[in-house]
Amino acid sequence: MNELAGKNILVGVTGGIAAYKVVEVVSRFKKMGAEVRVVMTRAAAEFVAPRTFQEITKNPVSVEMFAGTVNFHVEHIALANFADVVLIAPATANFLAKAAHGIADDLLTTIVLATTAPMIVAPSMNTKMLEHPATQANLKILEGRGVKIIDAEIGRLACGTSGKGRLSEPENICAEIVKFFAPKILIGKKILVTAGGTIEPIDPVRFICNRSTGKMGYEIARAAKNAGAEVILISGNATAEPPSDIKFVKVETALEMREAVLAEYENVDAVIMSAAVSDYRVKNVASQKIKKSNETLTLELVKNPDILKELGERKNNQLLVGFAAETENVIEYARGKIDEKNLDFIVANDVSQEGAGFGVDTNIVSLIDRAGDIENLPLMTKAELAEKIIQRIAELI
Ligand code: C5P
Repeated sequence: MNELAGKNILVGVTGGIAAYKVVEVVSRFKKMGAEVRVVMTRAAAEFVAPRTFQEITKNPVSVEMFAGTVNFHVEHIALANFADVVLIAPATANFLAKAAHGIADDLLTTIVLATTAPMIVAPSMNTKMLEHPATQANLKILEGRGVKIIDAEIGRLACGTSGKGRLSEPENICAEIVKFFAPKILIGKKILVTAGGTIEPIDPVRFICNRSTGKMGYEIARAAKNAGAEVILISGNATAEPPSDIKFVKVETALEMREAVLAEYENVDAVIMSAAVSDYRVKNVASQKIKKSNETLTLELVKNPDILKELGERKNNQLLVGFAAETENVIEYARGKIDEKNLDFIVANDVSQEGAGFGVDTNIVSLIDRAGDIENLPLMTKAELAEKIIQRIAELI
């Protein structure tokens, strides 16, 4: 969880009720290892006490332009130079207007003019204020200047109405900052990721599935996107939230997944096959719901194509990464699969270990390459593991 170690984040909090949510954002930044300085407008300090941010960041919080420079000699310049990135959350309509037009009438807006660090803003306000042509024009001006806008969400607002204007969730805001800092090691590369479990129908209402939640593959897709790649995510059944700004293809059966993967295969630089593809499907899928008239029921299953093996046979220059989820002889089976499927490396996973495998946020794996070299990784989050896998891929292509 040290994704932001060594990074300096300046958080500007302006006067919206959503300021309280930014306490959570700042707390997450600290947990991820960032150095955080908070600057609040006077209005923001009406919603959340500066002391709250002070305690979390372990740094003084600045509000006033002429507070006697308790913190720095020339405070606005020192803070402007400190920042690797400036995050404004929540950003009010008033702040957006001032920032768009270069008005510097308080400490925060002065810092915004004085810094050369990139700026990310997360607006939050009443729907009508957000939709007002003036606010929309100001957002366009900022965007045109390279400012990243984290879109407000639709939902219930503090003013009692419903609509667009809710501050993006702390989790999303943090994900944007992590993305901002991720080294762009896959720029110009096209990466295909499969994830989730396939669904093999038995009759119109029943199917065979597995315990995959799609989490590992979705995190790989996210890490590849953050590294600057163009990403195609082909997903079977999954409960995880797909990343934004990628091509997302939803499939059900192994046969559908095969078709979707082959349609993209020629044009990609790497395939990471993390999907839990069902090895078998029902031979004769019943067209009507099967009745429980007999004491026993036998389903005849036929083998599904091994998609990854087929990719290995058709390989041109694509880098191929497979997953091996096993409950015994993990390394031995995984090594066998590298040869059998013509892989560049495999992520071997003993799913019987606590903290590994399906439905948990962590994993314990070994990365094994073609030469048979093994890197045993400790317990880590699937997001961290995804970054490791992406790093490996970047080194190889
Ligand atoms: O042979 P095994 O199923 O253990 O291999 C696992 C790897 O092969 C995973 O990367 C999985 O996504 C892929 N696979 C596949 N098609 C199948 C079964 C598995 O592509 N029918």
